[in-house]
Amino acid sequence: MAATRTLSKYWMLTNEFTQNPYPVLEHVREERPVCEIALPDGGRAWVVTRYDDAKAALADPRFSRDIHVHYQLMSRRSGRTLTPPPEEANHLANLEPPRHTPLRKAISFAFTPRRAEALRPRILEIADELLDRMAGRTRTDLIAGYADPLPVIVIAELMGVPADAWPDFLRWSQALRTFSPTDTSGVLDRNIQDLSAYMSSLIAAKEREPGEDLLSSLIHADAERRLTPTEILSTGFALMTGGNDTTASLVGGVIAALLTHPEERRRLLAEPGRWGAAMDELIRYVGPISNALQRVTTEPVEIGGVTIPADEVVIISVMSTNRDRGQFPDHPDELDLDRAKPAHLSFGFGIHYCSGAHLAKIITEIGARRLFERFPGVRLAVHPSELRYQQNVVVRPLEALPVTW
Ligand code: HEM
Repeated sequence: MAATRTLSKYWMLTNEFTQNPYPVLEHVREERPVCEIALPDGGRAWVVTRYDDAKAALADPRFSRDIHVHYQLMSRRSGRTLTPPPEEANHLANLEPPRHTPLRKAISFAFTPRRAEALRPRILEIADELLDRMAGRTRTDLIAGYADPLPVIVIAELMGVPADAWPDFLRWSQALRTFSPTDTSGVLDRNIQDLSAYMSSLIAAKEREPGEDLLSSLIHADAERRLTPTEILSTGFALMTGGNDTTASLVGGVIAALLTHPEERRRLLAEPGRWGAAMDELIRYVGPISNALQRVTTEPVEIGGVTIPADEVVIISVMSTNRDRGQFPDHPDELDLDRAKPAHLSFGFGIHYCSGAHLAKIITEIGARRLFERFPGVRLAVHPSELRYQQNVVVRPLEALPVTW
């Protein structure tokens, strides 16, 4: 039972919440499972915290993910005309049917379980190359040196980005973390322009000379499946924004969870066949997504006994749903690798269900497993209570994961 508490006005945006969101979310789930929150710009949003309500909302087209609907709302609220950059406005994650459907179909071949499995040997090599850099040292930060670059390299290579551009990809990917319609710093715009210019020249090069990669397949697809150049560029953005930070957040979180649960780690290393089945519980427990997923209501919608008016921002807290006792009755706040097939919502639900879910699980499994196989004595270099999470509205990565061995 959650303790009685008074929540601060911007409770979801506080550092206290970022560091330990679960007691607050438990309280909200019990007291006001669909509730309004104030935003610092004077606006408001609604938060959906229960598993069943979240699943219903994610399957309901009246909760729109269309970026144009979102920007129109932000324009009305701010009194400024805001338009999404084309790189963000033309990809599957930011559109609804009918435009969503062909965009999703176009990339689906590259993300089947079979394709993801086939990448295992290469992901292992990339993990090993990153771990080689730890040799001869006795302490490192596994976020900057391992969890962050691992997915960026895998996804860049999958798209067909050559190795000399990987450091830029890491930088751009970190810059995209700050994506917000009302950002006025200019930093994000510059990074979007740089990434866009690079991707455009890469696409032009692959038009002339295709490779064995995802971008080449999209460019040279059959006429009836072919996307426009803007859609191809935008799809590259979707894969980077959708795949890099999320997977990095999960890799870091899973390694931290296993560092602080030595018995579970020991069992996994003793029976490597258990890794696949353990991943969903690790993903449920770690919760790599923070104050997301976001939608805008296109008409008044009743959910969890509350009517949310039209044109409202709705935050579907998957992090909260993953600890909902209604769905996970037995000790939801504990990591239990024997939990049978936990149906978490960390990869979303419905038509926007994560395209890269298989790939993300494989990257994370190999990332964690290889670290512990190669450095069996690895341990936290700080007390677990000193680990800090980055404040970010979409993902929940650790700021650093200092380890020694
Ligand atoms: C742990 C890692 C990951 C997590 C937790 C995650 C989570 C999610 C979630 C929750 C959604 C649904 C968003 C919504 O409904 O608003 C989503 C969509 C998506 N994800 Fe992932 N993702 C991960 C990794 C990846 C990877 C590795 C890729 C590809 C390289 C990827 C590509 C996508 C794409 C393209 C979509 C949009 C699908 C659509 O709109 O139809 N994700 N992801």
